Amino acid sequence: MDVVIVTGGASGIGAATSRLLTERGFRVVVADLQDELGEPLSEELNGLFVHHDVADPDSWEGLLTAAVDRFGPLFGLVAAAGVKSEYLLDSPPDPALFHRTAMVNQLGVILGVQAVGRHLRELGRGSIVNIASGAAMPPAQSPDLAYVSTKWGVRGVSRVAARQLAPYGVRVNTVLPGLIRTPMMATIIKNFPDRVAGIEAAIPMRRMGEPDDIARAVYFFISELGSYATGAELVVDGGSLA
Ligand SMILES: NC(=O)c1ccc[n+]([C@@H]2O[C@H](COP(=O)([O-])OP(=O)(O)OC[C@H]3O[C@@H](n4cnc5c(N)ncnc54)[C@H](O)[C@@H]3O)[C@@H](O)[C@H]2O)c1
Repeated sequence: MDVVIVTGGASGIGAATSRLLTERGFRVVVADLQDELGEPLSEELNGLFVHHDVADPDSWEGLLTAAVDRFGPLFGLVAAAGVKSEYLLDSPPDPALFHRTAMVNQLGVILGVQAVGRHLRELGRGSIVNIASGAAMPPAQSPDLAYVSTKWGVRGVSRVAARQLAPYGVRVNTVLPGLIRTPMMATIIKNFPDRVAGIEAAIPMRRMGEPDDIARAVYFFISELGSYATGAELVVDGGSLA
């Protein structure tokens, strides 16, 4: 069984991806800060949960060791861990908030392609999928300065890694979700139902995305379906950017 690590795998898009990849025959290592969600999910999926902080290089080392010890060499990585920041144009200048956001959304992805990319390069095969956001495509749809800039950064990281790893048989691609119904969006959905209804009405497909909509796109790139795709970006947003 091909083994794939899913960061942020305990919740939302990461959890849906962990389920779908398992259904399609992968062995999944769920890596997340949320033990209370990740442990039961991994148990259900017959996988492995590892408490993991994507922003910590030592944590990556521990994650790879735990995964390889349990299941053997890896096949891939889905980098779905992420945080939003709500750093707006009129917010007080806040380097610490930017730093926290960038450490997870951007450095977390860099550390992932370094750690897993080097491992896969030695094996001469594999697939990495990084989750950016439709907010990192023009026109800028989100007002969140820190979130949007770090998600643009993810696109850059994926492209650099894709070019460098392609000669070794390792593919690196990016999925850019639109508005998806996950715990990250729960507060907005709960507190601003009218705003959300307005956003949904403006989506050509007239609905918010579900985590499974994104998991299917990730599966395309991780699996052999995406055999000649690397450095590619797939927007999955119900037509918003069409
Ligand atoms: N939901 C959306 O509308 C949407 C849209 C575009 C992009 N995204 C991106 O999709 C990805 C998944 O988000 P989601 O909507 O499923 O949110 P979510 O909050 O449900 O899941 C994110 C997961 O990442 C984990 N995480 C956060 N910081 C971490 C860290 N330092 N180390 C390890 N894990 C950490 C959280 O514990 C959580 O389980 C994120 O990168 C997000 O930016 C989401």
